[in-house]
Amino acid sequence: MTTTTTTIQMAVRPWRLDCHVAAGDDQRAVDELRQSLSATPPTISPRWFYDDAGCALFERITGLAEYYQTRTEEALLDARMDAVIEAVHPTELVEIGSGAATKTRAILGAMARADGLHRYIPFDISPGAIARSASALAVAYPGLRVHGIAGDFSRHLGKIPRRQAGGTRLVAFLGSTLGNLEPAQRRLMVRRLARLLAPGDALLMGTDLAHDPAVLMRAYDDAPGVTAEFNRNIIRHINRAFEGDADPDAFIHEAIWNTRASRIEMHLRASRPIDWDLPGLDLRLHVPEGRTIRTEISCKFTLDGVAALYADAGLRLTTWDEDALGRYAISVAVKD
Ligand code: SAH
Ligand code: AVI
Repeated sequence: MTTTTTTIQMAVRPWRLDCHVAAGDDQRAVDELRQSLSATPPTISPRWFYDDAGCALFERITGLAEYYQTRTEEALLDARMDAVIEAVHPTELVEIGSGAATKTRAILGAMARADGLHRYIPFDISPGAIARSASALAVAYPGLRVHGIAGDFSRHLGKIPRRQAGGTRLVAFLGSTLGNLEPAQRRLMVRRLARLLAPGDALLMGTDLAHDPAVLMRAYDDAPGVTAEFNRNIIRHINRAFEGDADPDAFIHEAIWNTRASRIEMHLRASRPIDWDLPGLDLRLHVPEGRTIRTEISCKFTLDGVAALYADAGLRLTTWDEDALGRYAISVAVKD
């Protein structure tokens, strides 16, 4: 596979963006999509949610009454970041799956108050999300160096620039995006994140906790139907990327709680037989009426589960903070 690195750096912009996901560059992702769509049962990786429309829909989800995760995590960050920054003293923040980087301001603000804010490295599959957040943050924090990386966190973490000599790095993985990975990938992911750290550096994660299934279900099947639209948008994105012709409205959004695996699953169920022609993928898919395509798993965690992931990656859990209702936690682990 050849990867093109496009660096967009203009004198007027105090930030840069390296892009490893330009059209045609990520052949492995294309091959994986062809394989997963052809499998029984078919699945689509959640990375395909996040075209520009999907990013905007996700932002709408974060403001929904039913989606308690974002406001709960933000409140925990607001309450705890000064103490975390005082303990770690980071000089740069690397954020994986940074999205709109709204909650990031709680971290950057605490770093600025501690006189430690030098560099921010947002990493996301969406170059548009990085460009938008980078330009806003560069204005909000004059002097901050922003170096964005558009890449897939399952293969491009090696493109993250080297640590600043003499500095300390904080890596953040917020939003419970870790829960969108299967258990083996999750372990691998935390190990890969640990490899970005040197002794004294730290990893900050936000994780959604296992609790009342009814509350969880509402968060993934909201009354206004925004999550349903987010789910169906994956069809639109794949149609556009691979010249496909499926009607997104022929799919019904479904969220289910899988007790055994402690996870929400999102599916798209065919409301009628669908022939999905995807010439760009060299694939013709027949989806019989009633068949579902799984588009996302969203695993819910426990303290023991998260502690085990850190330990497996050679990290030491130092801080665990959850909200009063026990729905969400932020945690910090350090590399000794
Ligand atoms: N951290 C933000 C956004 C969470 S949404 C928050 O907490 O609100 C998940 C983010 O991860 C999106 O911005 C999406 O574009 C990004 N993402 C999803 N899959 C990815 C992948 N494979 N590689 C890199 N980024 C990915
Ligand atoms: C990004 N990720 C952790 C979200 C989640 O809750 O699993 C994506 C999402 N899917 C539906 N709503 C939000």
